[in-house]
Amino acid sequence: MSTSLVTVFGGSGFIGRHTVRALAKAGKRIRVAVRHPAKGFFLPPNGTVGQIAVVKCNALEADQVEAAVHGADAVINLAGVLHSSGENTFEAVHCDAAENIASAAKAAGARTLVHVSAIGADKDSDSAYAATKGEGEARVHEAFPEAAIVRPSLVFGPEDDFFNRFAAMARFAPALPLIGGGHTKFQPVFVGDVAAAIVELVRDPAPGGKVYELGGPNVYSFKELMELMLDAICRKRPLVPLPFALATIPAFVLQFLPKPLLTPDQVTLLKSDNVVTGANTLATLGIVPTSVEAEVPAYLWRFRPKGQYDDFVRDRVQA
Ligand SMILES: NC(=O)c1ccc[n+]([C@@H]2O[C@H](COP(=O)([O-])OP(=O)(O)OC[C@H]3O[C@@H](n4cnc5c(N)ncnc54)[C@H](OP(=O)(O)O)[C@@H]3O)[C@@H](O)[C@H]2O)c1
Repeated sequence: MSTSLVTVFGGSGFIGRHTVRALAKAGKRIRVAVRHPAKGFFLPPNGTVGQIAVVKCNALEADQVEAAVHGADAVINLAGVLHSSGENTFEAVHCDAAENIASAAKAAGARTLVHVSAIGADKDSDSAYAATKGEGEARVHEAFPEAAIVRPSLVFGPEDDFFNRFAAMARFAPALPLIGGGHTKFQPVFVGDVAAAIVELVRDPAPGGKVYELGGPNVYSFKELMELMLDAICRKRPLVPLPFALATIPAFVLQFLPKPLLTPDQVTLLKSDNVVTGANTLATLGIVPTSVEAEVPAYLWRFRPKGQYDDFVRDRVQA
């Protein structure tokens, strides 16, 4: 096993767990820095004994970040939020924590830093999510100029928040909303491909730091993704266009839920397409992207009506 140590912030999250698993397979020693170590209890069995350690760290606290990156050869930042909550605001996590991590990684002598941002990151965006992602990238670049910036489009995979959420909604809702008419374009990228890209950037950091935009093989409208999801769960639901201006009304109310279903900032985000436009992509890293059609039906089957659910399980067992 390689002795190189990689510190991963946000390793207990959706992309984080796949990245930790891929790093373990690549033979790295991994230190996962999380606010709540109990939430990372499932990670160590992905490696050999002692290969993966989970340590307590709030990335907003500079001294905790310094301790977490001590001795690290590489650092990966996957900490992010989709909505502000308490002290964990967009500004705090995407900008201040990102700067803490980049500065500490540089001071610790880390060879490389992979900072995960998002397509659409832009300091001048009307969306607070995208604007703070843009500001965070700038601060990371300042503190660690060689850092690789990774901007995924919508990420899909077994625990994703997009297909699973809408499939769960489709079980009970009589119709599904098409915010802004459902015309927004996405280039969904498989979580395993994002993890593979991050491992590749740790293994072979590009000199000078670059921005990588990660998307899948196809571009879909939001409406097409809803149709694909409904097809995968064998359900029919009317798709009802909801203009952006009208969508902000339910979003205003829903943002106050502990885990908001929709926020006004997400409505703003949906006004811009989320597709790859940059020069460095999965292909640059030698990764062939996985399609939505190849993966999504295999993890959404549990949302099918009882009859089709049984058929699906029987077909899989017989296959
Ligand atoms: N999923 C997507 O479709 C997508 C698309 C584009 C970009 N991204 C970006 O990719 C990154 C990972 O996304 P994800 O989908 O894996 O999100 P996720 O499942 O919500 O995971 C986010 C991680 O960040 C950690 N975190 C949040 N605040 C923290 C803090 N103050 N200190 C330390 N850790 C903190 C969370 O841990 P605790 O809250 O448990 O501490 C969690 O492990 C994010 O930056 C996200 O913006 C995601």
